[in-house]
Amino acid sequence: MYNQPMLREDALKGKTIIVTGGGTGLGKSMSRYFSQLGANVVITSRRLEVLEATAKELEQETGGKVLPVACDVRDYEQVEAMIAKATETFGEVHVLVNDAAGNFISPTERLSVNAFKSVIGIVLEGSINCTLALGKQWIKNKQTNRTVLNIVTTYAWTGSGYVVPSACAKAGVLAMTRSLAVEWAKYGIRMNAIAPGPFPTKGAWDRLVPEPYRDKFDLKKQVPLRRVGEHQELANLAAYLVSDFSAYVNGEVVTIDGGEWLQGAGEFNLFDDVSGEQWDMIEQLTRKAKS
Ligand code: HXC
Ligand code: NAP
Repeated sequence: MYNQPMLREDALKGKTIIVTGGGTGLGKSMSRYFSQLGANVVITSRRLEVLEATAKELEQETGGKVLPVACDVRDYEQVEAMIAKATETFGEVHVLVNDAAGNFISPTERLSVNAFKSVIGIVLEGSINCTLALGKQWIKNKQTNRTVLNIVTTYAWTGSGYVVPSACAKAGVLAMTRSLAVEWAKYGIRMNAIAPGPFPTKGAWDRLVPEPYRDKFDLKKQVPLRRVGEHQELANLAAYLVSDFSAYVNGEVVTIDGGEWLQGAGEFNLFDDVSGEQWDMIEQLTRKAKS
């Protein structure tokens, strides 16, 4: 059931949506669904050949228009050129999805300054560059009913060891989401975020849980629902948040992680493994506490 598309046909018709990182992984899955729902989609990242192959595949599948544009989101001039191409092709842009990211697992003391800068550059500066360039254009042209959706993660607010550059950068993106949701609301621009738990993609899994460590660090073990996410589940949520159905949702971060981050947060969640017999014993002991 959770693999089913959620919104009605044509729910995004008439919208042009830029998806950074749209050539692969979750960006590709969101782009596919946006296109199925009638949107024009611009997918952008550094590797043009990957984008072109994805655009072709999605256009064949959905019958929609998918424009591949190469752009390194760390470079503001390239971002401006990418937006200009999107605008020239489709007339105007209605939605930005900041999905592009860089990440890898590593003890922080092993990182070079450049490694830190690389991830912060893609995730935080890249999201700022795209948001700023498009926001300036929307405000100048008095284009309202626009929306930005930022893909963060749950460790944007909890932090996480071994992915510290990513955690710092995602925390910054979350702060930008909440800040601009208020500041730019007067211009008719909404800003929300999604915080996914584990959704297997090649890009993330090769860098975070590479073979042969996949069984040892099986991420679904720390998810109360004991499974990873399905891409369509995330695409459904993203489509809702960029659609007019969510017109009153602004400044929100929606977690979609099967309860994962709360599993670690709740003091007594480690009692999950206690058997029925052990609970009988514990009950006797705790009742005794009264006397
Ligand atoms: C230590 C590393 C490293 C590693 C790179 N570096 N990989 N250090 N361990 N595994 C260092 C390099 O030595 C270099 O520092 C610096 O980082 C920059 O590396 P480059 O390869 O020159 O950078 P670049 O070509 O810009 O590539 C960026 C990248 C790469 C982030 C390093 O992995 C990439 O392109 N990633 C894009 C896709 C991606 O990461 N997807 C996963 C998103 S998952 P020096 O000092 O040597 O110059 C996600 C959330 C998942 O974000 C949450 C899951 C639940
Ligand atoms: P992915 O497939 O590796 O996606 C990352 C994308 O970012 C790639 O398409 C990559 O394309 C692009 N990118 C990287 N550097 C770029 C740059 N400098 N300029 C432009 N584009 C760049 O990984 P994913 O798992 O789908 O991740 C998508 C998003 O979900 C990310 O924001 C990630 O943090 C978030 N997320 C994922 C998970 C998960 O479990 N998968 C969990 C939580 C959050 P190029 O290499 O062609 O540039």
